Amino acid sequence: MNRKRWLPLLLLVLCVGCQGTAQAPAADTPGPTRTPEPTVTPLPTDTLQPTDTPEPADRSEPDAPIDPYVQAERLGRGVNLGNALEAPREGEWGLVLQESYFALIADAGFDTVRVPIRWSSHALNEPPYTIDESFLARVDWVIENAFERGLNVVINMHHYDEIFQEPGEHEERFLAMWRQIATRYRHMPDNLYLEPLNEPHDRLTPERWNKLVVKVIDTIREVDGVHTLVIGGAEWGGIQGLSKLKIPEDETNAIGTFHFYEPFLFTHQGAEWVEDEYGTTGVRWPAPPETELTPIPAALEVPWIVQWFEAYNTQPARYNPCGPQAITKELDWAVRWGEKLGRPLWLGEFGAYSKADMQSRVNWTTFVREEAAKRGFSYAYWEFGAGFGVYDREAKGWNEGLLRALVPQE
Ligand code: GLC
Repeated sequence: MNRKRWLPLLLLVLCVGCQGTAQAPAADTPGPTRTPEPTVTPLPTDTLQPTDTPEPADRSEPDAPIDPYVQAERLGRGVNLGNALEAPREGEWGLVLQESYFALIADAGFDTVRVPIRWSSHALNEPPYTIDESFLARVDWVIENAFERGLNVVINMHHYDEIFQEPGEHEERFLAMWRQIATRYRHMPDNLYLEPLNEPHDRLTPERWNKLVVKVIDTIREVDGVHTLVIGGAEWGGIQGLSKLKIPEDETNAIGTFHFYEPFLFTHQGAEWVEDEYGTTGVRWPAPPETELTPIPAALEVPWIVQWFEAYNTQPARYNPCGPQAITKELDWAVRWGEKLGRPLWLGEFGAYSKADMQSRVNWTTFVREEAAKRGFSYAYWEFGAGFGVYDREAKGWNEGLLRALVPQE
């Protein structure tokens, strides 16, 4: 996986010893104008939709206009229910959602759960791409339990890995799944949010993703006029990807989202699913550390990582790539891209994996949360009870330091 390899490099360029020389944003090119769609042309060629395609009359409508800025603020403090429904089958990654979790999360002071979902493992591969009813019922159960506890819910499409490799071939299936999801939930309260795709990347380039965004919005809006859409950029859904995202202007009920895992060599140190060069553990936040850290051999083979560690070990906090200013600079870019997008922003994922020491994780999480809040972003921590867990399922208790980082005591 080449996941996010360029991101730390960018950060290094931005932050190591370069005062005020942050990379200029890409030129503000005007977006392609959206071709108006014919209003009602139900042609027989439309064989790709599920057979139970609703009549346009079934479209849900809001009682009053929905303000996405209010909707974004409402998300407040959130947590991702990661490693459950986005595993190939729930339980395969060690986590099965329990009813008790929703009470725990609400009682701890969270407002929102984001539910990553691998729909693609539960839908036919051929038209009409029907989603398995028992899986839909499981998602219903999650939404209902969250609502019962007063939590907002963001459901997404997570780990549709095939579409990142063959976007053209998977477009019909992607849209057909969204038609079914939107149809099923169109009458739900407006504190259900729909996020079309988690972290588009690889061959689903920014250009291709922007085109697909138009199509998925049209597909959802044919049946659902209510729910706020949450849309992130390509290139793994980070801040850089956000800068290239375009959302059609006539879609007014949408929020932009981005994920934040910087510096990746800190948040993903030793993570099993990233490349070996990220394997140096003992990276602390904030740097510089008291004792110099020697990178592992795989890290020494990658020039930018060698440089990163040199700076990590030696640079004062202000210029350190693993210090506070490296983070605030990035978040300031997010603010800019949000303004350019003309949408409110939601920090939909951030977190540091459990291979980092707990004190550094708490320091980092506290700082990112505070800086996000200063910039007006609601946020959702990655994640509840697995490798980044704010909740320790074995000990059956919260990781207090992380919980306080996310839900400060007032
Ligand atoms: C993304 C991935 C998820 C991973 C997380 C942290 O959301 O989809 O699987 O655990 O980032 O790396």
